Amino acid sequence: MTPSLFRAFLLWGVNIFNALQAASQVTPGDFPVVINSTFPLKLAVNPLCGQLSSQNFTEINTGIIPLSATRTIVAFGDSWTSNGANGTVPVPPIMWPPSPSAGSRVNQNRRASNGFIWVEDWANMASAKLLNYAWGGAVIDNFAWNTTSPNNKTSVPRTDFVAEANLFFLQGKFLDSLVPSQTVYTVAFGINDEGQFELAGGDWNRAYNTYVRSWISDHFGPHRMLKQSSLFQVTKLGELQAFGAKNILIHGMYKSHPNTDILQNRVFAYLKESKAVNGTEFAFVNLETLFTAIADNPAAFGYRGNPTCLVSANTIVGGCNDPDHSVFWIRKLAYRLAVALD
Ligand SMILES: *[C@@H]1O[C@H](CO)[C@@H](O)[C@H](O)[C@H]1NC(C)=O
Ligand SMILES: *[C@@H]1O[C@H](CO)[C@@H](O)[C@H](O)[C@H]1NC(C)=O
Ligand SMILES: *[C@@H]1O[C@H](CO)[C@@H](O)[C@H](O)[C@H]1NC(C)=O
Ligand SMILES: *[C@@H]1O[C@H](CO)[C@@H](O)[C@H](O)[C@H]1NC(C)=O
Ligand SMILES: *[C@@H]1O[C@H](CO)[C@@H](O)[C@H](O)[C@H]1NC(C)=O
Ligand SMILES: *[C@@H]1O[C@H](CO)[C@@H](O)[C@H](O)[C@H]1NC(C)=O
Repeated sequence: MTPSLFRAFLLWGVNIFNALQAASQVTPGDFPVVINSTFPLKLAVNPLCGQLSSQNFTEINTGIIPLSATRTIVAFGDSWTSNGANGTVPVPPIMWPPSPSAGSRVNQNRRASNGFIWVEDWANMASAKLLNYAWGGAVIDNFAWNTTSPNNKTSVPRTDFVAEANLFFLQGKFLDSLVPSQTVYTVAFGINDEGQFELAGGDWNRAYNTYVRSWISDHFGPHRMLKQSSLFQVTKLGELQAFGAKNILIHGMYKSHPNTDILQNRVFAYLKESKAVNGTEFAFVNLETLFTAIADNPAAFGYRGNPTCLVSANTIVGGCNDPDHSVFWIRKLAYRLAVALD
């Protein structure tokens, strides 16, 4: 990803927030960050917000806290969101010595950008602390897929939402006071689940259930479920709320797939219930609207040249001279994410 795409994406998110926070002021940054504020791209499409009553997922913000009130952002996800921090203090992007991961702590499966990734831009704009657990290649639940389960056909070490959340539950409270009214939780999974499923199959219900719904609640109802806690598979979004999450931002995928569409419908339905039952506010961003518009007319956004800058995730040798006008930084990522651009 180039920072330019992330900045375009950030504007996208901000447009959604603007609907609710037109009157609030962003406070000046508490933590100075050097960024190139020259922005060579423009956002050539607007979010399409739908209704809370929608049966299927739709772009929406039910009223998560505005930038000015956001002191902490807690992030879970894959390479779209990872800055390589894994719960440690994030290292800002550094391009010297040359590095395809912009100097993130670890080179493998980390920051897939030559600049700040979207969640860092968001945290910088809000002067918020970022606790980022996202990691490249992450899936929802390793036990859902034949490749990543104990069958483990690929033998590629892979992290999942379960592991990311466990690390947060262990150490998050020592890193920040996590005041519910000042903290936004952001979650984005699905593309690697689809990728692993396409490789060797698996169990989508297991992934759905780990994300939003207990295994047996669907069969016996919530009251029975609570009494039988030994049979109760706790859902990650439920655990986050039990931990204090009151504001949740979800990203829908870049491209429609039958399984991830159902996943997103279920996440949306769950969050509607979370709002009704727990008073949890949520925002849902559908990246497909943005990526489809970019694929249809990259020039309208200011993109030019090759859509992907680097020829490999391991080196900047042979990469483009003008990354800020490319949609993607790393080819492997582009291959996964930008089928629409091919
Ligand atoms: C900042 O970005 C603009 C647009 O991409 C570019 O022309 C300029 O050289 C950059 N400035 C620095 C200091 O990198
Ligand atoms: C993240 O940090 C935890 C705790 O140190 C570690 O167990 C885990 O393997 C790390 N995850 C990745 C993907 O490096
Ligand atoms: C799959 O295999 C790799 C390499 O042997 C290992 O690191 C990883 O933990 C395994 N994953 C699971 C879910 O068993
Ligand atoms: C993948 O796992 C599912 C159950 O999760 C199993 O029914 C199926 O046979 C497996 N597929 C392959 C190709 O191993
Ligand atoms: C809702 O989503 C399902 C599953 O993707 C799809 O089959 C159905 O057509 C959608 N309904 C509407 C009204 O878009
Ligand atoms: C409501 O919050 C509790 C934790 O406080 C959680 O266990 C439950 O799953 C949440 N329900 C919904 C529908 O979000």
